[in-house]
Amino acid sequence: MQYKRVIEVMTEKAVGFQLEVRGWVRSCRDSKEVTFIDLNDGSCLASLQVVADGTLANYVDEVKRLSNGSAIIVSGELCTSPASGQAVELRAASLKVVGWAQEEYPLQKKRHSFEFLREIAHLRPRTNSLGAVARIRSALSFAVHSFFKEREFFYVHTPIISTGDCEGAGETFTVSALNLKNLEKGGEKIDWRQDFFGRHANLTVSGQLEAEAYALALGRVYTFGPTFRAENSNTSRHLAEFWMVEPEMAFCDINDDIDLAEAFLKYLVRYALDHCMEDLALMANFIDKELMLRLETVLSKDFVRLTYSEAVLLLTEAKGDFSYQVQWGADLHSEHERFLTEQVFKQPIVVTDYPLAIKPFYMRANDDGRTVAAMDILFPGIGEIVGGSQREERLDRLVARMVSLGMGLDDYQWYLDLRRYGSAPHAGFGLGFERIVQFVTGMKNIREVIPFPRTPGSADF
Ligand code: 4AD
Ligand code: MG
Repeated sequence: MQYKRVIEVMTEKAVGFQLEVRGWVRSCRDSKEVTFIDLNDGSCLASLQVVADGTLANYVDEVKRLSNGSAIIVSGELCTSPASGQAVELRAASLKVVGWAQEEYPLQKKRHSFEFLREIAHLRPRTNSLGAVARIRSALSFAVHSFFKEREFFYVHTPIISTGDCEGAGETFTVSALNLKNLEKGGEKIDWRQDFFGRHANLTVSGQLEAEAYALALGRVYTFGPTFRAENSNTSRHLAEFWMVEPEMAFCDINDDIDLAEAFLKYLVRYALDHCMEDLALMANFIDKELMLRLETVLSKDFVRLTYSEAVLLLTEAKGDFSYQVQWGADLHSEHERFLTEQVFKQPIVVTDYPLAIKPFYMRANDDGRTVAAMDILFPGIGEIVGGSQREERLDRLVARMVSLGMGLDDYQWYLDLRRYGSAPHAGFGLGFERIVQFVTGMKNIREVIPFPRTPGSADF
């Protein structure tokens, strides 16, 4: 008997053939001596209708008692379905219950709130919407690799354990093998030299600095992995553990960088539309009616490019009702970013040339002395989705900037070496992977687009 996944059954529609399917009972209903079962195996959104009747030896003892969530293996003939709602159905010749779901199985046929589903994150991928998100996320991560492969970038695995703080925001998680019970007794300072790495170490906030080393050897590279930030932001767009895609290119400037980022974001959206239509249609129906329109807008329009100074001017003139005041020199808050993308431009925008004082040490200083060659890409409904820059490749400028920030130069000798030995202009950016998954799926909260979200106060599962 040939085993098939539901996605194959649904695409091949090989009516008249005997086959076997394996999956979980989404729902079932009895009508006299016949039971109709929706069997879902996760391979696609659709469930396969299984028709089981009294001719089965275990009909009364098992089939009639089937509960939602139970794991079953069914074999039989695939037939054209006489009823509307599905093209084909499987007439069961045998139905084996592999694992019963106990009665208190929390997923019932009704719609559950996303907040409730977060509490059962181990079961939520069995729902239509979270299953769809998981498949779209998988497709998008594959698309990340195919985009860079097509452009001859090399994939570099940068370390998860780091001894630097690339973004300089002081939001790192410490990694230690010290016995925490013995720490700071009597107010004595922790001696990190006694720790595993002989110095203080933390989980990485970005793979950029290491990616720069490889870009200045291989030309074009990208890293794609988990990053960690201990920022206490309990918002719908922040996670303590998230995945970031970071390309880095030698002999490229900020404009090449923006071009690459725009092409990349369009590629990802295009890829989802080409490969995930069934799941996207579900999201468009139940999560966000405007989803398709917003995805099409990304594809059809050139991103608007404007400088930070122009953005500040627009925001000041708009006299929007903001809780944070807009003034040159201050960082844009998400309310400002969203005002620009959602009210003013109604499409993705790229903001460039931010004030030097609010950006990390590695960004290249512009000739005006007060801005840097930085760029943020802002998306409607999301805000910042990409942050990038041209890097400071001039040793003297970089050192001066690090000193002014009070950074220990000793820790960054290797990074400065890159400017000592064959320095070249280079640029890169970071895409918050969950934010693009959020945009593509229309999910309102970032906690729904990563399997097991880590946020302040929550690392269950
Ligand atoms: O703007 P960020 O902090 O830039 C960097 O880390 C650079 N080193 C990237 C580079 O140039 N190679 O972060 C990049 C992106 C943000 O635009 C955002 O999409 C995402 O990462 N991001 C987060 N996503 C989820 N939760 C968080 N706490 C995030 N912080 C940043
Ligand atoms: Mg940023």
